[in-house]
Amino acid sequence: MNLKQMAGIEAAKYVEDGMIVGLGTGSTAKFMVDEIGRRVKEEGLSIVGVTTSKETERQAQALGIPLKGIDEVPYVDLTIDGADEISEDFQGIKGGGAALLFEKIVATYSKKCIWIVDESKLVKKLGKFPLPVEVVPYGSQQLVRLFEEKGYSPILRTTTDGETLITDGGHYIIDLHLEEIDDPIALGAYLDQLVGVVEHGLFLQIVSTVIVGGEAGPNTIHV
Ligand code: 5RP
Repeated sequence: MNLKQMAGIEAAKYVEDGMIVGLGTGSTAKFMVDEIGRRVKEEGLSIVGVTTSKETERQAQALGIPLKGIDEVPYVDLTIDGADEISEDFQGIKGGGAALLFEKIVATYSKKCIWIVDESKLVKKLGKFPLPVEVVPYGSQQLVRLFEEKGYSPILRTTTDGETLITDGGHYIIDLHLEEIDDPIALGAYLDQLVGVVEHGLFLQIVSTVIVGGEAGPNTIHV
């Protein structure tokens, strides 16, 4: 079985009747949403989903999963999402699929977060994967210049057509090519205070369970 699919199906077992479930974004999360959709249809599982992107919203709607917006629920019981990198101390980089802002909002108001990955996402230190920073379009070139001065090798993300990518929240993404992040907490705090930065892809102290798809089967790590 595809390792991402293995992790997605395993994570869907954590979903129980009556839960409000945050539905992540990306190719791994897609398998999890498919499996929850199957359980809704075949097992009569009764849940409310809160999606983290327009892409996941379309998928969940097509599968018949009942949905509510993040502002229509008191909290989220469980969010299941993918990740781009997870370090040895279970800090993460997310946003490869450009959904980091809504993903972080949904994760923040969740009682529990599960990340689902294949084993290639586990790293010693974060940073090989470019760190996405979501920014307001106005003044974004100033931020690119600032990041260049800092030696962060920034690249404004574009679509496959070469157009500047616009997120579901109407913002741009600047990817920082850092190679290695020595102090994710300090970097996150620095990015948080920059004017024009809406959110960044460092997800720190957020996850409680990681499910890793591997050749020997799914490995569940409780953080
Ligand atoms: C989207 C994300 C995704 O969860 C992350 O990019 C992992 O994606 P995939 O499962 O396709 O490798 O953060 O913003």
